[in-house]
Amino acid sequence: MRIDVLTLFPGMFEGPMTESMLWKGRDRGLLDLYVHDIRDYALDKHHKVDDTPYGGGGGMIMRADVVVRAVETLAQPGTPVILMSPQGRLLSHTVAKELAGQDRVILLCGHYEGIDDRVRQLVVTDEISIGDYVLTGGELAAMVVIDATIRHIPGVLGAEGAADTDSHADGVLEGPHYTRPPVFRGLTVPDVLQVGDHSRIAAWRRREGLRRTWQHRPDLLFRAQLTDEEKYWLAEFADADSAAKPQYP
Ligand code: ADE
Repeated sequence: MRIDVLTLFPGMFEGPMTESMLWKGRDRGLLDLYVHDIRDYALDKHHKVDDTPYGGGGGMIMRADVVVRAVETLAQPGTPVILMSPQGRLLSHTVAKELAGQDRVILLCGHYEGIDDRVRQLVVTDEISIGDYVLTGGELAAMVVIDATIRHIPGVLGAEGAADTDSHADGVLEGPHYTRPPVFRGLTVPDVLQVGDHSRIAAWRRREGLRRTWQHRPDLLFRAQLTDEEKYWLAEFADADSAAKPQYP
């Protein structure tokens, strides 16, 4: 997969893009990542990329002529051009997997107060938000999108695990993980994990994942596909919760 990032702050990508998973993806030849400075596409002698907003108001707006030139220089017909924006559709496991299915994407990072809307109208094909809050710019959001996406490219995770067992992969959270030592400060690794019966381990993991989901993200359970046994477990968690709550006469 090839990802081109357009940004006013290419230096922000240096650390994260050369470490860990991203580095592995690049090293294994599964990810081609290019970070481009939008300023290089400003033709005037001061490389001006922004200007004051029509109609007044604070802040500076990124210029359409510069940004569109940058995008059109890089994009080929059909290349998705994704604007990082708090107004976009929310990034999720499903969206990341969908992006990983593309051969190539361009991620456009906005900055300052915003970007001239004609960029959106002319060249942007999709807008993605990483959450309902506003960042100073799209750079951190682009890095989150890249990280979440490339885990779905076959071979990037290698032996470390498969994205299909991640939290959210099937609509619920993952259960807890443990490693040595078996007892730490009086807390013991559950017996089932130490015995090696793989079907019991899988059932335990599913049940504990559902318990986590019940406790932390019950909203996810509305859409999760559950067996009758799993629904019964949820009823047990609910009973345990109400038994733990103080009873008033
Ligand atoms: N740019 C600013 N805030 C953002 C957000 N929440 N998601 C994506 N891009 C952004």
